[in-house]
Amino acid sequence: MARSSATFVCQACGAVHNKWSGKCDACGGWNTITEESAAAPLGSNAGPRRKGRAFAFEDLKTDEAEPARRATGIGEFDRVCGGGLVPGSAVLVGGDPGVGKSTLILQALAQYARAGGAAVYISGEEAMAQVRLRASRMGLSEAPVALGSATCVEDILTTLDRAKTPGIVAVDSIQTLWTGALEAAPGTIAQVRTSSFDLVRYAKSSGAALILVGHVTKDGQIAGPKAVEHLVDAVLYFEGERGHQFRILRAVKNRFGPTDEIGVFEMTGRGLAEVANPSALFLGDRDSASPGTAVFAGIEGTRPLLVEVQALVADAGYGTPRRAVVGWDGGRLAMILAVLDSRGGVNLSARDVYLNVAGGLKVGEPAADLAAAAALVSSFAGVPLPRDTVYFGEISLTGDVRTSPQAELRLKEAAKLGFSSAVVPQDTHGAGLKLNPVKDVGDLIAFAGAAAGRTKKD
Ligand code: TYD
Ligand code: MG
Repeated sequence: MARSSATFVCQACGAVHNKWSGKCDACGGWNTITEESAAAPLGSNAGPRRKGRAFAFEDLKTDEAEPARRATGIGEFDRVCGGGLVPGSAVLVGGDPGVGKSTLILQALAQYARAGGAAVYISGEEAMAQVRLRASRMGLSEAPVALGSATCVEDILTTLDRAKTPGIVAVDSIQTLWTGALEAAPGTIAQVRTSSFDLVRYAKSSGAALILVGHVTKDGQIAGPKAVEHLVDAVLYFEGERGHQFRILRAVKNRFGPTDEIGVFEMTGRGLAEVANPSALFLGDRDSASPGTAVFAGIEGTRPLLVEVQALVADAGYGTPRRAVVGWDGGRLAMILAVLDSRGGVNLSARDVYLNVAGGLKVGEPAADLAAAAALVSSFAGVPLPRDTVYFGEISLTGDVRTSPQAELRLKEAAKLGFSSAVVPQDTHGAGLKLNPVKDVGDLIAFAGAAAGRTKKD
């Protein structure tokens, strides 16, 4: 007989405790622990322990060719997956509510179905009528996607088993799923984990590619994040700043492809449109005549991407000066300010400092340091930087500028978009642009100063 006893599970990290407390010791979250009746561990058959069955070991070597990937036809989505979905694999697509996950998945399924694939969309959040309305608004009504509305995993699995195995199954969202095997309420960690596990097992045994949609909680994690991320083969996050129409699909885990790839979309009145040339989009209508902007020549995955970094250095009001960042790490801003002060003699400690990456993009590359420092110096001096220049290079704590990988790719993209010079680390090579190598932040400040001289002469 299965023992039924209560356990207390943290809904943020999945840690199991044997008594309730206000704070989870594992993740530090407050008020995240709820009581769940203890279920049999995943995949086990509760009952007396049976004698195991022996299985044969096999070689790593295989004669089987890699199975063909199932490309949906949405190029940006396929690239982030590593060239399409792998049969029998499971992908988790996470993101804030309202960012456009359902829209993206519906478009991908419709495109796949139109090309002759068998696509199934199971919505647990929206009624069939709502999904149909959305599809008709996006002009996808004619696509032969099999639509279902269900939240009970047993129902979903029985339905899927009856029909011919589809190429792609999407379940939207994991937070609505529940299984009769557990007493816990839908949305609790136990339900999300067990339901997802059952679906992943179905995908593995049937060969269907599974897409699970999951919402992200306030602190940026999919509810039940640790519980589901390890079950799936790939985790993609769909991000976008509210107020911006750009959406970025980013792989954070991928067993079948790279994890630094991004896909860029634009939300339009008729669903998501792929953005083929993101650099042009992020540079947008750049007003580079004003001080405090510098263009960073970055790399996202395999693609070069130019973005504008904007800085504003303002007189502080009363009290502690403010530092605010958008699309940038606050800790790295503090480091750049400290280096500018101690190695370059630019003291901003009494000023308010704002740093912003245009277009709603998040920049995590250390190579962006130089562009941020240039924008800060330009704003501080009140002098615009040359309009036709891009920047990249990592700044170390000693104030030296370090080389960055894939310099040629960055320079090529900048030349393609009409830039004619680049401020780069020493020993950087590349054709098509005038290179201004800088050894340390002192050189960068001198470059900005020379620009100021040129501007004054004009
Ligand atoms: P949705 O895909 O429902 O988000 P999620 O599934 O991640 O919760 O996207 C909803 C948002 O997208 C909503 O705010 C409206 C916007 N939207 C458009 O702007 N154009 C469209 O064609 C569609 C379908 C949605
Ligand atoms: Mg949705």
